[in-house]
Amino acid sequence: MNYDSYWEMTGPTLTCPPLTAGTTADVCVVGAGIAGMMTAYHLCREGKSVIVIDKAGVGSGQTQNTTAHLTNAIDDRYVSIEAWHGSDGAKLAAQSHTAAIDRIELIAMEEGIDCEFTRLDGYLFDSPKDSPNLLNDELRAAHSAGVVVEPVLHAPLHHYFTGPALKFPRQAQVHPLKLMIGLAAAVLRRGGRIFTQAHAEGIESVVAESKERTAEVADDQPLLRVKIRGELSITAKAVVVATNSPFNDMFAIHTKQAPYLTYVCGFAVPRGSVDKALYWDATNPYHFVRLEDFGPMNVNGAVLGNPETEQLLLVGGEDHKTGQANDAEARFSRLATWTKIRFPILGEPRFRWSGQVMETNDGLAFIGRNPADNPNIYVATGDSGQGMTHGTIAGMLLSDLIVGRPNPWASLYSPSRLTIMAAGRFLEENLNVAQQFAAWITPGDVSSVDLIPKGQGAIVRDGLSKLAVYRDPHGVLHACSAVCPHLGCLVNWNSNDATWDCPCHGSRFDSSGHVICGPAHRDLALIKSLAEPVVT
Ligand code: FES
Repeated sequence: MNYDSYWEMTGPTLTCPPLTAGTTADVCVVGAGIAGMMTAYHLCREGKSVIVIDKAGVGSGQTQNTTAHLTNAIDDRYVSIEAWHGSDGAKLAAQSHTAAIDRIELIAMEEGIDCEFTRLDGYLFDSPKDSPNLLNDELRAAHSAGVVVEPVLHAPLHHYFTGPALKFPRQAQVHPLKLMIGLAAAVLRRGGRIFTQAHAEGIESVVAESKERTAEVADDQPLLRVKIRGELSITAKAVVVATNSPFNDMFAIHTKQAPYLTYVCGFAVPRGSVDKALYWDATNPYHFVRLEDFGPMNVNGAVLGNPETEQLLLVGGEDHKTGQANDAEARFSRLATWTKIRFPILGEPRFRWSGQVMETNDGLAFIGRNPADNPNIYVATGDSGQGMTHGTIAGMLLSDLIVGRPNPWASLYSPSRLTIMAAGRFLEENLNVAQQFAAWITPGDVSSVDLIPKGQGAIVRDGLSKLAVYRDPHGVLHACSAVCPHLGCLVNWNSNDATWDCPCHGSRFDSSGHVICGPAHRDLALIKSLAEPVVT
């Protein structure tokens, strides 16, 4: 079993230098995922000097965990998009996602990126029994939005009769890390700079010193300084925060989007037994499926599959709110059961992994100026399960905003929008967040650290507070405060990823408490009484 994503096992890597001195640029992009790299790429093409920084590596956040469906069949369905954003908004959503697929295809061709970009059809099927008209309603709404879609008698599965389905032609799929590394190379070729292992901790407006205006930053615009962990900083005219969840926003955006973990299994199927297409069911939570040709049989010593006789079926779903479940085994098992009924899988999964999705309350990403902030600070977040197309839309839209060019999608994706028609979902998610604070008065997961097995973590009550305690494989205990440094919710242990996950807005920390995913940008506080490793 491989616990890294298939893309990590088979994709290229790119070594970028760490930042060793303060520097300047027109634009500093924080986050080297799809949204950040697409933004950097488009700005380089505009002639801007661009720096991209990431606390890890290129594509090493959620972009490496996606299944990279490139689709204009919106996850939340056009019926909902029309209700929330009106018919004109639904048309713009359709146009922008279609344009994003076209743009990825164009960039791959122009830059010579061998990212396995493949055009294929997508099928939506399995209308739930309590919504028998769902597919008809979706067909009408998608047609009204201008989407090319047609009803078919069934999706082309050879071992399962799906019943009526909707066929969306000219969708696409890619190998996301091959696309990312190709994009990064294109950014570097076009004069951009990329620094990894650079952890942004804050952004402040500054009065520039004259020496900072001598290079790329040469006119009289107010400047921004991105503070990097350590002593360094980057000075720029504009900053784009393209992390999965923005670390520079305390409330405004985080009340309008919710973090979910989704799970993916990779099964071998007999070569030729499944038509190459994208498949989605219409249940809630829904499932998503794509087919991949196995690469070489051995990667880093691991046997992935036999490319002569097998193909890889990637199946995802079983979402839950981040930090609110720790039952990944049961979810992987249900994914396998669902898949076995519909596809001729060969045995146990070869791959398993999970990824985080930010679901906005109205189904579309937040891309634009950060609300109530310096007008030259931009964000791209709220992938809503369509990170590849939303990230590409971010590249197109943010580059227009930064160079001062009108963009017809700006209002639709504005992070400042309040979608009155989505108020129910907004209230539901925020009530759920409020309920998480009840954890302050409940007992810990275990009554004593002695009960924590090796390789596992648990929450332990410590008087009025709680500790996040991890026992590493050698038996050494690592204890942190369980209080999330974002807004004070208490984290929970995720045994599948060996992380501490915040159930409120999705901050995630490694087993030792180091932040790996915002909105928190600080680590869990180390507990001094257990700061010295305790072997029991
Ligand atoms: Fe907001 Fe933890 S992510 S309180």
